[in-house]
Amino acid sequence: MSNSQIKNGILEGGSGKQGTQQERFEKVRTLVRPDSSQACVELASEVAALIRERQAESKNVVLGLATGSTPVPFYRELIRLHKEEGLTFSNVITFNLDEYYGLTRDHPESYFRFMHDQLFDYVDIPAEQIHIPDGTVAMEDVYDSCLEYERKIEAAGGLDLQILGIGRTGHIGFNEPGSAADSVTRMITLDRVTRQDAAADFLGVANVPRSAITMGVGTILKARRIVLMAWGSNKSEIVREAVEGEMTDRVSASFLQSHQNAVFLVDKAASSHLTRFRFPWLVGPVDWSADMMSRAVVWLSNKMGKPILKLVDEDYNEAGAGELLASTSEVAYQVNIDAFNRVQHTISGWPGGKPGADDTNRPERSTPHPKRVLVLSPEPADVFIGMGGTLDRLKEQGHDVTLVFQTSGNLRVGDAAALNFARVVLEMGEENKGEGWSVQREYAESIINALREKGEFGSDPELVRRLKGMILRGETRDAGSDCRLDADEIRFLDLPFYEKGRYRRFQPANEDRAGIAEILEEIRPDIIFATGDAGDPSSNQSICFQLFAEAFGSESAGPWRKNCNVWLYRGRDQAYEAHEIEMAVPMSPDQLGQKVGAIRKFMSTDDDDVSSPARNQEIASKYNDLGLAEYEAIEAFRKWSC
Ligand code: GLP
Repeated sequence: MSNSQIKNGILEGGSGKQGTQQERFEKVRTLVRPDSSQACVELASEVAALIRERQAESKNVVLGLATGSTPVPFYRELIRLHKEEGLTFSNVITFNLDEYYGLTRDHPESYFRFMHDQLFDYVDIPAEQIHIPDGTVAMEDVYDSCLEYERKIEAAGGLDLQILGIGRTGHIGFNEPGSAADSVTRMITLDRVTRQDAAADFLGVANVPRSAITMGVGTILKARRIVLMAWGSNKSEIVREAVEGEMTDRVSASFLQSHQNAVFLVDKAASSHLTRFRFPWLVGPVDWSADMMSRAVVWLSNKMGKPILKLVDEDYNEAGAGELLASTSEVAYQVNIDAFNRVQHTISGWPGGKPGADDTNRPERSTPHPKRVLVLSPEPADVFIGMGGTLDRLKEQGHDVTLVFQTSGNLRVGDAAALNFARVVLEMGEENKGEGWSVQREYAESIINALREKGEFGSDPELVRRLKGMILRGETRDAGSDCRLDADEIRFLDLPFYEKGRYRRFQPANEDRAGIAEILEEIRPDIIFATGDAGDPSSNQSICFQLFAEAFGSESAGPWRKNCNVWLYRGRDQAYEAHEIEMAVPMSPDQLGQKVGAIRKFMSTDDDDVSSPARNQEIASKYNDLGLAEYEAIEAFRKWSC
């Protein structure tokens, strides 16, 4: 790429990093942008420059494309450039990375369909220039068809630029752990984690195909340039492994370290586990604020396997944190006590503030009491997974709690639950042969027919989605009552973007913003609990958080907002690390048991997060290792400011 416009950009070339000490641990160039849209606008403009440059030379550009949520904002920006700035794709040839095996092109989750829905249908790329592995070839023809795919890439002149996402197993394309560096296009068995991650898209893990056809790691590495994108906290650990870890076939993205021209393009949340952000004192001088100090001490305590108060000067020096002591001219003893107290003060059994108490060292204020508490949950299970114990405490401590479910979550309800319900209604009709029952029977029959007609993979018609929503509402009320909430304290917003969409394809609109703004104004809360701030931006959780943040930050929000604290919890997203926690609400074994009970109420979905109680126990044991009291479990929160 000789284009002068893309110098100093994402595609600038060379394996070189920016040369700062901060990047010492990073084995591949890694660019961090505040959010995915900024990153994608930048990348799309560079790709557009490349397309135009090649057009001027009457040459083609060969792009390797990826699916998944990650590249969606990049495709949206390309579409915008086409529509508003006249970018043409007439000289673009594309090769997609992969396709599920066994899905026909018109299946809603086929990558063929995905690419057309997200990009190809909206730009002027000629159909014959689009290549996507064929998931429908007969088993005995798979080998040849994969070989043919490789040949076509070569015949087109090789990939100029390969776009990648990354799966939680570290895969690129569908190159699951074990894929060799020189692997080529082939059939592969999908990992359990990968299938689990695709479960929501396929409306249940059982529907996710077991195998796929994917370009190999070797095919990808042959591209002249590679950009791997990753957004959201759930990608932070795998990004760190791929960027800083050993090159290994356990994490196929780590092979990008060997490429001359590969770059990781990540948002803040996905970069948070990189050493330069997580342990900045290891990579260069830092500003030793009280917060930074306590982070470093928590890290040191973990590293030395000693409680904070037992750390001595030598431990600091040995671990390369001597600078901390030097910077404060304190001895370890004093630094330890300061850090210990900071962590200690995060612990509070009074998440809504303790009435009459001195607030100096408490996470939440004592007044007013009771407080108007608004708890936002993107989908029904999120709140119980993230803060079921805290919810119970807030109620127990007399607060005026309103639990608001932003979306119905009905896409997570399995067909079996809807069918079961319809059959019960039919049977009731049989038993009560009176007149009124004919309407119910008709309803039940139309549900059964609709389920039969759509088959295993089809989309639910509205009637079925509404029924699934009702089933989930019942389970939600049940779970709520485990946390002391009455039915009238639970509200369901059923935001329209969710009702109209499916996972990864949600398009929030003004009516959704208005829905959240209305509930905020109605409740005028003193405290809000919310989640989704660091999630994958296309996830339901993240969209719900953005909608809330916009409504909360809007000029038209009432004066109540100035006195309202917002606490963030983590539900399905990566749990907080000890140093990130600003309020730690301890739970007794009984409370933990109660929380497990609430999560189990979601019988109609197959996604209830059974590992969440274990995560709460893990936080408690981390606190215990630091030398703090030994609790059974802890739910963790951070304060948010808009
Ligand atoms: C699938 C795709 C990958 C993609 C990954 C991550 O496994 N085959 O190409 O990178 O999902 O998906 P997402 O971007 O939705 O997180």
